[in-house]
Amino acid sequence: MSKFYLEGNFAPVRDEMTAFDLPVEGAVPPALEGRYLRNGPNPTTGDPGHWFFGEGMLHGVELSGGRATWYRNRYVRTESFEAGRRIVGENGMLDLEATLANTHVIAHGGRILALVENRGPTEVTAELDTVGPFDFGGRLTTAMTAHPKRCPVTGELHFFGYGVFPPLLTYHRADAAGNLVQSEEITVPGPTMLHDFAITEHSVVFMDLPVVCDPSLLMAGTMPYRWSDDYGARIGVMPRGGSNADVRWFDVEPCYVFHVLNAAEPTAGRLEIDVARYPHLWRDSQDAFEPATLHRWTLDLATGTVKEEALDDRAVEFPRVDERLVGRPARFGYAVHTRPGRDGFAMEAALVKYDLATGTTEEHRFGPGRTPGEGVLVPASADAGEDDGYVLAYVHDAATDSSHLSILDASDFAASPVATVTLPQRVPFGFHGSWVADTELRR
Ligand SMILES: [Fe+2]
Repeated sequence: MSKFYLEGNFAPVRDEMTAFDLPVEGAVPPALEGRYLRNGPNPTTGDPGHWFFGEGMLHGVELSGGRATWYRNRYVRTESFEAGRRIVGENGMLDLEATLANTHVIAHGGRILALVENRGPTEVTAELDTVGPFDFGGRLTTAMTAHPKRCPVTGELHFFGYGVFPPLLTYHRADAAGNLVQSEEITVPGPTMLHDFAITEHSVVFMDLPVVCDPSLLMAGTMPYRWSDDYGARIGVMPRGGSNADVRWFDVEPCYVFHVLNAAEPTAGRLEIDVARYPHLWRDSQDAFEPATLHRWTLDLATGTVKEEALDDRAVEFPRVDERLVGRPARFGYAVHTRPGRDGFAMEAALVKYDLATGTTEEHRFGPGRTPGEGVLVPASADAGEDDGYVLAYVHDAATDSSHLSILDASDFAASPVATVTLPQRVPFGFHGSWVADTELRR
């Protein structure tokens, strides 16, 4: 059976490259002082067994003074990478202790961290060299989700770890300086795949959805989770600063969600969570991805009721919001238009911009054969308006089998890019990335 994640622009690149002063078409906005870093799986050899199992490779472009000053791509050199230790071992058994660090890259407390959800973070430098494992000074004793949420008001980093074995779910909170200040085990009925979660001004939100660990898959060389018709689906709401005893669970229709766009409590007692929702996932095959569409759950915290509604009918993934509005009401969101199916996953040639206030959408279409990855909003300045900024994405051009960094004006989304940065090699489709401004780095 063909494996979509080894073909086309999912296929790995072999070289780690460094290039300076990249050619630019258009003009790099001088406001952009920092680097766009993005993580993704890049199997070192052969078939790792699943799209999610390739070794993590970072691709970065630094922008400064209106120039694209460098491009680098580097494997995250975890101990597993250096030892050639893969998630699927030689004997076909899953090795859940292997660290691929392939899912996201964020900055917090002056550190840049490559993340993967089965293990702790790996620190890297702003030039993408690996520093080593980072365990919050020994205080982090569980895995760490690749989707932590930083509160834009307190600067705290909220996250969780989950596992196949107890503790199944643990909530963590680090302060703005990166000190782990709270770890709280959360009771759930079983070992589900918890990829993402949400925060609001007042709450932490967990999604306990029916993609459940199947021990028989630990020997199958693929993801050890499958759809369950019996598990049910629940959203847990914990007051920020609360504990396991304070979590309230709300039943929802069974579904799966990898990614949250955002959540907020626009009025007291009304909690909205916007997600890319799959009607089900991995019922028959761990390579099958049904279309996910943007949905909103509205929780009435007084009555305990949940309303669910579709906000759009496009298949999308990799939803992102202005990081300054995480957990707060945001008007705009971004996602990649996708074309998933029974045998895999594909990206369409467009990014989608949602206007959640008017219920309208815009698309940026890159042209035939030009396919973007995740789009990341970068504000024009720290206090710029929500729509005053740029959306950055790596774009693959099938005609030339090359990639570029596209910089779009967020407020004129369908217009031609304000800048297109030519890259010295193809950037495979990956997962998630961040804009790491100079101000995020330790001095
Ligand atoms: Fe993710």
